[in-house]
Amino acid sequence: SVTRHYNFDIRLKNVTRLCQTKSMVTVNGKFPGPRVVAREGDRLIVRVVNHVPNNISIHWHGVRQLQSGWSDGPSYITQCPIQTNQSYVYNFTIVGQRGTLFWHAHFSWLRATLYGPLILLPKHNESYPFLKPYKEVPILFGEWWNVDPEAVIAEALQTGGGPNVSDAYTINGLPGPLYNCSSNETFRLKVKPGKTYLLRLINAALNDELFFSIANHTLVTVEADATYVKPFKSNVILITPGQTTNVLLKTKPHYPNTTFFMLASPYFTGLGTFDNSTVAGILEYVNPSGSNNAPNSSTILKPTLPAINDTSFVANFSSKLRSLNNAKYPSNVPQTIDKSFFFTVGLGSSPCPKNQTCQGPNNSSKFAASMNNISFALPSIALLQQHYFIRENSKSVYTTDFPIVPLDPFNYTGTPPNNTRVSNGTKTVVIPYNTSVQVVLQDTSILGAESHPFHLHGFNFYVVGQGFGNFNSSVDPAKFNLVDPVERNTVGVPSGGWLAIRFLADNPGVWLMHCHFDVHLSWGLRMAWIVEDGKLPNQKLPPPPPDLPKC
Ligand code: C2O
Repeated sequence: SVTRHYNFDIRLKNVTRLCQTKSMVTVNGKFPGPRVVAREGDRLIVRVVNHVPNNISIHWHGVRQLQSGWSDGPSYITQCPIQTNQSYVYNFTIVGQRGTLFWHAHFSWLRATLYGPLILLPKHNESYPFLKPYKEVPILFGEWWNVDPEAVIAEALQTGGGPNVSDAYTINGLPGPLYNCSSNETFRLKVKPGKTYLLRLINAALNDELFFSIANHTLVTVEADATYVKPFKSNVILITPGQTTNVLLKTKPHYPNTTFFMLASPYFTGLGTFDNSTVAGILEYVNPSGSNNAPNSSTILKPTLPAINDTSFVANFSSKLRSLNNAKYPSNVPQTIDKSFFFTVGLGSSPCPKNQTCQGPNNSSKFAASMNNISFALPSIALLQQHYFIRENSKSVYTTDFPIVPLDPFNYTGTPPNNTRVSNGTKTVVIPYNTSVQVVLQDTSILGAESHPFHLHGFNFYVVGQGFGNFNSSVDPAKFNLVDPVERNTVGVPSGGWLAIRFLADNPGVWLMHCHFDVHLSWGLRMAWIVEDGKLPNQKLPPPPPDLPKC
């Protein structure tokens, strides 16, 4: 294994899409950002220098950060943000992981433009558990905003609502020909006949789960969130923000005189109007005679995508994801649990019922999202810093009383209660080192059922069960899959349903868990786990690096 160095210069760059030119925050002037590559076992050292007016921090989404929690990156959770003209060095080792992940900004909505692929290759002497692909191609889904996304979230927090819909979806930063003024900004995947390509799909969009399909081609899913899964075929993939999926694409045996579109469009179950538009890229066979088939010189085929609210497709697709669970890559799903939690997740207290007290993130009448009635408020200094130096700080910026069950049990997917008693708080759950944890995440229908892609920092978890309606603790656990559940870091809590995950808390530190829709995250749909040090030296969080930013 080796040490790999990267420099991330955060600077402004003018970028034009949909005939709008915007000065945007970038890494090294690139949009999407640069590719970071490492092998399992390598150390990554990334020096981030902030040359823009915004505060920033960078998160290595899905990297376990074993005993390197200071490099995880969420602002005010594991570090204070990097201020203008300051720098910070992220320094961590890739332990026991290989596959596709991504990195992104973890401050406000800067992820809109600050994201890029994080490719973890197997060790030198190891191969994939599937046929070696001819080529590997990262495909990043994102969003394009004609306005500044920072202004959008500022408004959404101020008024409690507002337009939080982007102007286009993008593939590798390009909206594609189905949007106005965008036909020159189209991602083209050039392929040869009779080959197998590994597509590394990454959903970096802020607020949208996406369906993805390529006309007339089948995709074989082989990996989810950098864990191998039992391969399965489908025409359409569902990928939520925060998820990464590796698929194999086998090209036609002979050169087809056809242009195949690849399309992505949203899966959305929430309330409100929605921009149901589609990003297109082109799968382009390179003509053996040398010339490419231009899109207008041949037949054009477009794939059919599910309807925007096709929850049964989504349930069916997620039920197919099973960990590989063979001798080489066994499933380590905890068979017994030490601590069990039940968390409601949903949008909270607006519109506030008459004569009731409802608290949103800012004041009573504003929009909130909450878990177990708590809307998470960001602290003034980083939780990990406070946790590490707790004895030196008499006054804590957080409390350890995050409720392990909802304060007001009710019929979660039935008629909403009058008052959900949402309050603000920086509340955490403290668990001892090596606790085996089970969490049931229950969607609520207070403002209508909605799918929530939940992400856990610092761990992979196993998705042992899911269903629609209310979780039934006397019946449902008997049906849990404790053999080959998918192992991942982000999973959609079904719209109007529940999901059960398990993980072993073998990583000391402070770990955020949140909805990966940035608008829900900003409204408070997050909480933090504090995993205590173990007894042995290699079970403790090392001291912070000297350049850890200050708030
Ligand atoms: Cu990809 Cu806390 O995020």
